[in-house]
Amino acid sequence: MQTKIALLAGDGTGQDVMDAARIVLGKIGLAAEYIEGQVGWELWKQEGNPLPDRTIELLKSTKCCLFGAITSKPKEEAEQELNPELRGKGYVYYSPIVALRQLFDLYVNLRPCKAYPGNPLNYRDDIDLTVFRENTEGLYAGVEFHPLPPEVMEALKAHPKMERFARVPLDQIALSCRIITRSGAQRIVKAAFEYAQKTGRRSVTIIEKPNVLRETSGLMVRTAREVAQGYPGIELWETNIDAMAMWLIKNPQNYGVLVTSNLFGDVISDLAGQLVGGLGFAASANIGDRYALFEPVHGSAPRYAGQYKVNPMAILSAVRLMLEWLGEGERADGLEEAIAAVIGEGRARTYDMGGSSTTLQVAEEVARRL
Ligand code: IPM
Ligand code: MN
Repeated sequence: MQTKIALLAGDGTGQDVMDAARIVLGKIGLAAEYIEGQVGWELWKQEGNPLPDRTIELLKSTKCCLFGAITSKPKEEAEQELNPELRGKGYVYYSPIVALRQLFDLYVNLRPCKAYPGNPLNYRDDIDLTVFRENTEGLYAGVEFHPLPPEVMEALKAHPKMERFARVPLDQIALSCRIITRSGAQRIVKAAFEYAQKTGRRSVTIIEKPNVLRETSGLMVRTAREVAQGYPGIELWETNIDAMAMWLIKNPQNYGVLVTSNLFGDVISDLAGQLVGGLGFAASANIGDRYALFEPVHGSAPRYAGQYKVNPMAILSAVRLMLEWLGEGERADGLEEAIAAVIGEGRARTYDMGGSSTTLQVAEEVARRL
């Protein structure tokens, strides 16, 4: 039977890189049916919803999804670009990718950052680390207020430290809740340890800030210590997020598996991505117990849209992660080798690598080696 795979190209260069992925998928020749769906900024502007129900239904009918890129803008800018007929009717922009992660409970965000030999953009050549970012809670939970409802202010006064803010007018104060649950902490840390075990790593580094964020980061670290008990061969290293930013510049080669909460993981994965060539190389897998979505980490780079300039390596690595998740280990390894060979050889390179090849030429070069 054919595996159904959804393709959501999204906005801007999302389409360019999806075309590149299509070339490689065509050559790989999985027994799969690819079904295109709509998501993104144009739908927001026209329909007031960047993630329509028809797209959610489409995803539900598939095994997994390959995702291109999305344009996200803050609230006011989003409102201004909305179809005038829809303005003022209560439509609120939200990020469809964040919504999908929550809707399908894709709690693991796995982001490998590996220095491929011969990549001129490597910060060092011996970096090979993987970030496990919690993907459904933390500061991305979406529980935010502005203005603050009076009952929320009342409830917050249960904490003595709220005294300083108790007389701030309710429209002069904004609140974003950092929600960490024990089961949420457990499952992401467990995923990191399982991966470390599978890939023969000797340490997992939990990156938090429990000296200040005593309850939320505290729960993450306490849970990590418990989970670590179940993996006697793997050490748990504990590092604060600020220090980690420094360590990753100083000694990135010392780290293998990193695990952290949602926003810290967002930040640290961009930093780690830059060490191995930047967002043109950074891929990510959003994985739950029943569904998974694979995407390049980069945004939609609207000014390059349709020019086929951007590096397809990120989406091709995302395809590699997808093949692995589908249990197509051999094909995944083959693609990995092809990617490494094309990077190392340097004949087809996009502008970010100092070359002049197009997105599709690079994809064709990878496909040729499969
Ligand atoms: C990422 C992106 C997203 C995030 C944006 C587009 C909402 O930056 O995947 O890292 O913040 O998670
Ligand atoms: Mn990000």
